[in-house]
Amino acid sequence: MNTIDIQAEWEQVVERLKHDAKICIVLGKTDSGKSTFCKYLIHRWTDSGICVGYVDSDLGQSTLGPPTTVGLKIFNSPPHQSDYANPPHLHFVGNTAPEGFLLQTLHAVKIVVDKSCQQGAQITLVDTTGFIDGPVARILKLYKIEMLRPQWILALQEEYEMEHLLKGYEKTGWPVIRLACSKHTATRSQAERQRYRGEKYKAYFKLAKNVECSIHKVVFPSCIFGTGQKIHPDELPKEAGIHGRNHLYLEKCGNELLIVADHMDESMPFYKLKGYFSVTSIVLIERQQLKDLLVGLNDENNNTLGLGTIIDLDPFAGKITLFTPVSDISKVATIRLGALKVERGEREYGRIRVIQYL
Ligand SMILES: Nc1ncnc2c1ncn2[C@@H]1O[C@H](COP(=O)(O)OP(=O)(O)OP(=O)(O)O)[C@@H](O)[C@H]1O
Ligand SMILES: [Mg+2]
Repeated sequence: MNTIDIQAEWEQVVERLKHDAKICIVLGKTDSGKSTFCKYLIHRWTDSGICVGYVDSDLGQSTLGPPTTVGLKIFNSPPHQSDYANPPHLHFVGNTAPEGFLLQTLHAVKIVVDKSCQQGAQITLVDTTGFIDGPVARILKLYKIEMLRPQWILALQEEYEMEHLLKGYEKTGWPVIRLACSKHTATRSQAERQRYRGEKYKAYFKLAKNVECSIHKVVFPSCIFGTGQKIHPDELPKEAGIHGRNHLYLEKCGNELLIVADHMDESMPFYKLKGYFSVTSIVLIERQQLKDLLVGLNDENNNTLGLGTIIDLDPFAGKITLFTPVSDISKVATIRLGALKVERGEREYGRIRVIQYL
């Protein structure tokens, strides 16, 4: 804590909120010093005997746990830097930014903040992403605030960049404390951010192994896989257009037809299939695209047991092979598909939407 620039107003915040806050949320643009300020508050509050729950909802540059998750750690005494490693609670979101994962982000933050309060944190401090610009950020942050109902919103601003958010909060009665960013904040390049994420994945997947999981025991909430009626292409008449394509896995449920194919085949008569099966959507998964996809492994109570990457999904054998540090795979009830590819549990190399609706 000695090497940081402690602003004069920070001390006032410590005292003012000490006995008057159950939930506080810290907002600010990227590299505004949110996480540094959170660490300072944790240090000061725990030093005066307050139990603090730190909820790290920064999905990209997480302090707690691997990227793509919301983490929680409860502190009863001033932590050392190493105490921010291995948080006991993680909730998988699926991306390093909330875009495309707004519901998952909100849901994860709510679950983790509730857990912090249930576990006795006197103050729950929510660190956030630097996603503050534009209408989507405005909506996400407003819903987050309305859902968490924080006693205080702590806003780190360089100039007026968050006024489009803050004025609205104040008009609707949310208490805001504006703080200036320290002149000593440092910006990190995209390459540095990616390297940091790589280190986080590497630490997380250090003890990971390849494990097999039966797909009959798990649910994939983002698609109908395992919930419908399997169809063998050989059982179909010629007019369906895919007779004899035995490498295709087909499953129909409701208005959707799922096709798991090795790769996209432009010659596949998707529109014919729609008509033949009387479905409104064809859901296509290219098996090869699943390789290295980051997934969340949740138990039946929707607690994230851990993360994994997909080695292979074999729909015919009914199994999915994962690279994961989760030791008891039998507890996995749902597999949540993320949007990132992470090679050997350390190198993030792409963003993808593996489920295509045609
Ligand atoms: N008060 C401060 N004194 C000295 N250095 C600081 C201070 N605040 C932030 N920094 C430095 O600035 C950089 C960014 O700070 P920090 O990680 O806290 O920002 P952030 O808003 O959490 O960033 P992100 O949006 O990436 O999560 C870090 O290198 C940090 O050490
Ligand atoms: Mg941060």
